[in-house]
Amino acid sequence: MSDTIKISFAPLSAPVSGLLVCLVGDDMALPQVESLPASAGALLGRAAAQDGFKGKSGSFLDIIAPEGLAASRLIAAGIGKSADWKELDVIRLGGAICARLPDAANEASVVLATASGPLSADEAADLALGLRLRFYSFDRYKTKKKDGDTGSRKRSVTLLVADEKAARKAFKAREAVADGVDVARDLVNEPPNVLFPTEFAKRAGDLARLGVDVEVLNEKDLKKLGMGALLAVGQGSARDSHVVVMRWEGGKDGEAPVCLVGKGVCFDSGGISLKPGEGMQDMKGDMGGAAAVVGAMHALAARKARANVVGLIGLVENMPDGNAYRPGDILTSMSGQTIEMINTDAEGRLVLADVLWYAKDRFKPKAMVNLATLTGAIIVALGQENAGLFSNNDEVAKALTEAGLTTGEKVWRMPLSAEYDKLIDSQFADMKNTGGRYGGAITAAQFLQRFVGEIPWAHLDVAGTAMNSNKGDINRSWGAGWGVRLLDRFVADGYER
Ligand code: BES
Ligand code: MN
Ligand code: ZN
Repeated sequence: MSDTIKISFAPLSAPVSGLLVCLVGDDMALPQVESLPASAGALLGRAAAQDGFKGKSGSFLDIIAPEGLAASRLIAAGIGKSADWKELDVIRLGGAICARLPDAANEASVVLATASGPLSADEAADLALGLRLRFYSFDRYKTKKKDGDTGSRKRSVTLLVADEKAARKAFKAREAVADGVDVARDLVNEPPNVLFPTEFAKRAGDLARLGVDVEVLNEKDLKKLGMGALLAVGQGSARDSHVVVMRWEGGKDGEAPVCLVGKGVCFDSGGISLKPGEGMQDMKGDMGGAAAVVGAMHALAARKARANVVGLIGLVENMPDGNAYRPGDILTSMSGQTIEMINTDAEGRLVLADVLWYAKDRFKPKAMVNLATLTGAIIVALGQENAGLFSNNDEVAKALTEAGLTTGEKVWRMPLSAEYDKLIDSQFADMKNTGGRYGGAITAAQFLQRFVGEIPWAHLDVAGTAMNSNKGDINRSWGAGWGVRLLDRFVADGYER
């Protein structure tokens, strides 16, 4: 029972039916288009006076359709002062409009013009992106809908624009990105009995259809590579562990790629250092980093990005068992460095240690970005508004920060330094897998840094943002798909040229 939305573009003069949405600024003026009869302005003025509607951004006004209007209902969407609109404002407006369309309305048109003229093709495409992002919901496992609803919802939205060809073209790349976000959301929302490592790897394999080269490594391959840290995490699970390598070569031949690395713990029980029961179900989302990497690879390939990008994800399940790894165990990572286990719930860094090292070793990337739902401590520090950014390179950090501000997937830089690094020295091995109570997100990042060498690198701790975040105009899904748009933009702005 999955709902679908079809977005199409038509000229501003096209006939309308169903529901009509108009953009109204704080000047309260309607755009001049044929579908709006002259009487519409006066009707809007009267209704607005009753309702206190002043065209403020985020406000809406429902009006019975004026006589002479082919549509059966008119909705005014407040946009405030459109002169200082940013990309993200337009995307959010699209999301707000999507949310405002009544469930019963299958057909709607949106006039993409203001009193001062039509929106640009890019603005139209951004608004369409917002509609798409907001529309997603995950109901695969609901066999019954809310009362009265039958079957799945099929919504068709027509955007009336000045240049439909240009808008359609501009939307193509955004549509690829929206699809990538939805792929990531699906992966995060899926339950852990369905989405275990092998099934996750199989879904990543779907990227082959877009021209991505996908390799799935199994436990035998990983053993041969010496990934002792990653394998230890999965050894208490009945499910096999995997590493998936996804290559998109849209850039120049032989140019070093950007590597995107994701933590894919399909379920994190904590292992022998078992987590408390409350909220443990959320740990099905502990693969949010890997989901974002797959979603970003989808977006980049579907929009045929002119860049060489390699996505790598470490897929494991962290479970307690007679064969599980223990506190006190000393593991040898692929890098050769040894790690003393203090807490088996600090498993994400072990997975990433081997995948980061492998990415660096095999691909000699010009930059490497990893995403991981790594620590509860980053949620304490930053809440759900910003992901934690840790980097050994100011340029990479700046590019990610800027990409975060334009997409709304914001990141906040945190420190790395020798003093923090010392906290993970071990008395028995080269390092231990936790650094004590203080600065937990930072010591986790220090741990990762020991596996990236001199490669320009950034670690995004997305524990606060991958799940249940950004609920609002452009997302109503628990699995947020956070990071897909950020990575897409990072590759496009900083590294695509
Ligand atoms: N997956 C968790 C972190 C997490 C917590 C993600 C809440 C999303 C929401 C991670 O594997 C973990 O358990 N981290 C421990 C580390 C500690 C044992 C050093 C934590 O944050 O408590
Ligand atoms: Mn854990
Ligand atoms: Zn975890």
